[in-house]
Amino acid sequence: MKVDKEIFQIAIDGTASSGKNTAAKRLARKFGFLFLDTGSLYRGITVWFMRENVDLGSGDAVADALCKMDLRVRCQTGATLIFLGEEDITDSLHDLDVCEYVFKVASVPEVRVKVREIQHKTAEAETLICIGRDITHVVFPGAKFKFYLTASAKVRAKWRLGMVRENNSEATLEQVRTMIEKRDYADKTREISPLRIVKGAVVVDATRLSPYQVVKKMEAIIVKKLCREG
Ligand code: C5P
Repeated sequence: MKVDKEIFQIAIDGTASSGKNTAAKRLARKFGFLFLDTGSLYRGITVWFMRENVDLGSGDAVADALCKMDLRVRCQTGATLIFLGEEDITDSLHDLDVCEYVFKVASVPEVRVKVREIQHKTAEAETLICIGRDITHVVFPGAKFKFYLTASAKVRAKWRLGMVRENNSEATLEQVRTMIEKRDYADKTREISPLRIVKGAVVVDATRLSPYQVVKKMEAIIVKKLCREG
C-alpha cells in the first residue's frame, strides 16, 4: 500500500519503556500531530489472542483469529485508543500478562503484516508521530524525522515500575527489569523486523535526562532541520 511520505513526519523507535510514549505525546501536542503508538496495536492483538486462546504455533489458528478480529484504533494528540469492536480495551494493554506475552505475538509474521496494514491505512488519513520498533526502517522508512530512544535497563525498570504499580501490581523492580531485558532481547534478535538503529536516525539516550530534556532535545533537532529546509 502506498504511503504518502509528506503526510507522515516523525518516526521513533527504541527499547522497551525508554520514554518514547511520553516524548511522542509532548511532541504531538507541540507540532499538532496525532499520536500512533504501534506497541498498542500489538498489545491489542495480544489481548484478543489471549481471549481466544490462540495457539501461536498454528498458522491456521493465527489466520483465523486475525480474520475474526475487529481491532480499531483511534489516534488522538495525547493517546492511542484501542478497541475490540465497540469495547475500549486501552486500559488493559499494560496488564502484566499482556506485557509478558506481547513480544511472542509480535514475532508472528502474519501479525506483523496485519499491523503494518493498519499503520499504513492510519497514516494515509492523518499526520502522525509514530512510535515502535520497526517504524524507522520497515513501516515508514521515508519518515522525515527519525529517532532512536533508549536508556539504561535500570532506569527504564524504575520508570516502568511506577506504571505497573498504578495498576496495583505487586511486581518488584528486579522482576520488571528482567521482563524489560527479555523483551528487548526478543525484539532485537527476532527474524522479522528486529529493533535496530537505522542510518539517519538520531539516537537519544535518556538515562540522565528528564522527560522535559528529552523532548527539548528532539524538538531542537526537528526545528533545526525545518529551519534549514526553509
Ligand atoms: O512499545 P511497547 O512496549 O508497548 O511494545 C510492546 C511490544 O510490541 C514490544 O516489546 C514489541 O515486541 C512489539 N512491537 C513491535 N513493533 C513495533 C511496536 C511494538 O514488535 N513497531
